Amino acid sequence: MTTPFEQLATDLTDQGYAVYDHFLTPDQVQLLRQRLSQRYSEGDFKQAGIGSATEQQVAQQIRGDQIVWLDDATPDPAEQLFLEQVSALSQYLNRRCFLGIRGREFHFAKYPVGTFYKRHLDAFQRKKGRILSVICYLNEDWQPNDGGELAIYLPQADGSETTLRILPIAGRVVCFESDKLEHEVLPTQRERLSVTGWLLDR
Ligand code: OGA
Ligand code: MN
Repeated sequence: MTTPFEQLATDLTDQGYAVYDHFLTPDQVQLLRQRLSQRYSEGDFKQAGIGSATEQQVAQQIRGDQIVWLDDATPDPAEQLFLEQVSALSQYLNRRCFLGIRGREFHFAKYPVGTFYKRHLDAFQRKKGRILSVICYLNEDWQPNDGGELAIYLPQADGSETTLRILPIAGRVVCFESDKLEHEVLPTQRERLSVTGWLLDR
């Protein structure tokens, strides 16, 4: 039987991205959602920026999510278990694909109704260090008409482009090479929750 990590490694190698369902168990999803809500009610979330000193108003025309970073020193078991799973995945990918992952950064993200994140690349000159983008969704019973899909733009050999649309359903993980694939979060009709992060070369 192919393990989840092996499936992710194979798909990343073959196609530069991977989508895997049931990366998180239903229990894990529920605990992470509870933790996210707790941090939200404690006022820890901040409007996400776009990596430059651009005004907040301008940034919100590009991305509307609110985020809070996970901390390795957290005493929260759900966060700890998640980060351990990410470490295990990193080690596996290093051995299997020689990716040279040495660190990670992860945040909870909450997209309120009507928000989106316009087409972008996760790693550009000033954000060097991001090797792989990893997004885990925490949304129960997501329906196609809830919107909020992740659209990944895939360049084709003939110079054209195809679009892959991925629903942000609970337990699903999406990974892709941070400096290669442009992507976008389409406007969401429902609050949309995730744990999103990057495996780093530092
Ligand atoms: C990001 C991002 C995609 C998603 O946070 O950079 O592209 O599906 N997120 O949440
Ligand atoms: Mn992104």
